[in-house]
Amino acid sequence: MPHIPSQEKPSSIERRSSARLATSLFTASFSSRPAVGASAPGRVNLIGEHTDYNGGPVLPVAVERRTAAVARIANRWSLVSDAGGGVQEVELDAPLRRNWTDYIIGVVRELRTLHAAPRGAEIAVATTLPIGAGLSSSAALTVATAKALSLLAGKRLTPAQLVEVAFRAEYHHVGVRCGRMDQTIAVHGESRSALLFETATGELRRVPFPGRLWIVETGVPHRLTAGELNRRRRECEEALAFCRDWRPALRHLAQLSAADLPEMARRLPPPLVPRVRHVVTETVRTREAADVLAGGDLRRLGRLLLEGHESLRVDYQSTVAEADFIVKSAMEHEAYGARLTGAGWGGAVVVLAPEMLEARVVAEIGGDFAARFGRHPEMWNTRAAAGVRREALPE
Ligand code: GLA
Repeated sequence: MPHIPSQEKPSSIERRSSARLATSLFTASFSSRPAVGASAPGRVNLIGEHTDYNGGPVLPVAVERRTAAVARIANRWSLVSDAGGGVQEVELDAPLRRNWTDYIIGVVRELRTLHAAPRGAEIAVATTLPIGAGLSSSAALTVATAKALSLLAGKRLTPAQLVEVAFRAEYHHVGVRCGRMDQTIAVHGESRSALLFETATGELRRVPFPGRLWIVETGVPHRLTAGELNRRRRECEEALAFCRDWRPALRHLAQLSAADLPEMARRLPPPLVPRVRHVVTETVRTREAADVLAGGDLRRLGRLLLEGHESLRVDYQSTVAEADFIVKSAMEHEAYGARLTGAGWGGAVVVLAPEMLEARVVAEIGGDFAARFGRHPEMWNTRAAAGVRREALPE
């Protein structure tokens, strides 16, 4: 008998507001009430993986699970997280500590350059997102913190500034060579819409998505992600340099078309060929996915998700056995499609299934996974949700 995922569990997680959690943590840690709060969502990327740092499109959805930051002005920087470890006193100019506080220090350093940081603050952060599951808990943290601290400093940043502060915190301070997808959806997410983000031009197009997605976590923490992601990014940069010998005006790999692939394959060192092939085919799939989603063709969208997963598995080599297994099981049980979402090397699979069948499909996936790996995966669902917002703090 397959394990039926409880409908209660995910919805109760979503109802527990991250702002409420952060406020309780703040009060317990600093014996006072916070002055401001903000929250930002995690994301599931429908398709468009590893295209954002190659000038291609992405099609993410903001999820209902969020991270909140609440704060109050102080003379020092004191940070506390619901992940544990107690209150941490940090110095902005000291070497980074290689933990979650680095993200906040990165945000504050960036806000300072915009004169949008308070002189110091007590900050509490809490999340209803799983950490390290490829659902962009880091951008939820940086965007929520950037919003809360800029409000505390009496500044209203534009959406573009919020994206940039959060991106630069992660890229320049934490040192993850990410693109801008996660920060962009954390800022611009909208209820019941996916967002087609053309990273080369900055163009944003909302695509209605009233449906529901299931997230099946592999339970493989992608601890090595920063290293692997940085390595793939270097490979893409190297490939671009080779391509420019042949096409000097090329700005991004995503500008190549499918018709360029045979010539590219003749010119590039063999290990780089599949990386470029993934970027080029994923670019085509992502734009088509936005069109078929807009037309309501979920069956075709599902096929594209599956093709995207195969491309990650074979060409980009960023999947793990657990994710491949979940995708295969989903397809055997008549999902429309499934794919590993986010950077990879662990993380979570997004499953798109016909609404009438979805409870059965995920139950079967859970059963198959447990039989193979000896444990039940975390599974929950979400609809497309809103981006960053100021939080009215609970009394
Ligand atoms: C991580 C990065 C994103 C993007 C994805 C892969 O989530 O933060 O910018 O590159 O990986 O699509």
